[in-house]
Amino acid sequence: MSLTDALIAVLIIIAQAFWLTFPAYVSGPFGVIFGGGRPIDGGRKWKDGNRIFGDGKTVDGLVWGILGGIAVGTAMVLLLWTFDIPFMTDFTPVNKTVHIGPFDIQEKRNGLGFITVLLAMSLGAMCGDLVASFAKRRRGLRRGEKGPGLLDQLDFLIGSWTFLLIFFPGWFLDNFGWQHAVVMLIATPLSHRMTNYIAFQLKMKKEPW
Ligand code: CTP
Ligand code: MG
Repeated sequence: MSLTDALIAVLIIIAQAFWLTFPAYVSGPFGVIFGGGRPIDGGRKWKDGNRIFGDGKTVDGLVWGILGGIAVGTAMVLLLWTFDIPFMTDFTPVNKTVHIGPFDIQEKRNGLGFITVLLAMSLGAMCGDLVASFAKRRRGLRRGEKGPGLLDQLDFLIGSWTFLLIFFPGWFLDNFGWQHAVVMLIATPLSHRMTNYIAFQLKMKKEPW
């Protein structure tokens, strides 16, 4: 492989990683823009006296985050069908049965299957964010306080991958390798910082993280 070939291969991997993760990326911002109102935990507290999730996790934010991820992902699928973009996935499940421990997970190819893949992705991203919020409250951190390490940056990514692994392991493992994961684990904290800083400057977020 020449240096040019290697460079092209790396660029394709980066593009694929961003393409596949993009619907999960936008679900958070949709939640920030359209969220607000009734908190998911209904104001209830955990045994430790702190809120379960807090006022930063609302029903509207959750629903809009999921819908936003599916909508943007659907637009990407339409783009792909129209322009025949090479190397990128159309988020459509393949016919496959995957054995994980005692479980047989059957995936069937279906023209509109991309909607369920996008649902798993966006729901996973929002659940990752919820789990991180739950963990933050258990540490006594108030709403909006910065979580430990890269928790605030990577929660949605890990959540999204986890849901895809559970519900569409065949499709996910076909389309997403460790190289893609490495790209996203490096790029996400950087781009997260950037977009949240912009959202903070635009007064859409109260904190720059
Ligand atoms: N948001 C929402 N519902 C969600 C997720 C986010 O309404 N399920 C909105 C809230 O207005 C929230 C903002 O998006 O304040 C930013 O999200 P995030 O940074 O994840 O929440 P924080 O306010 O920082 O709260 P936490 O400390 O629990 O992470
Ligand atoms: Mg936050």
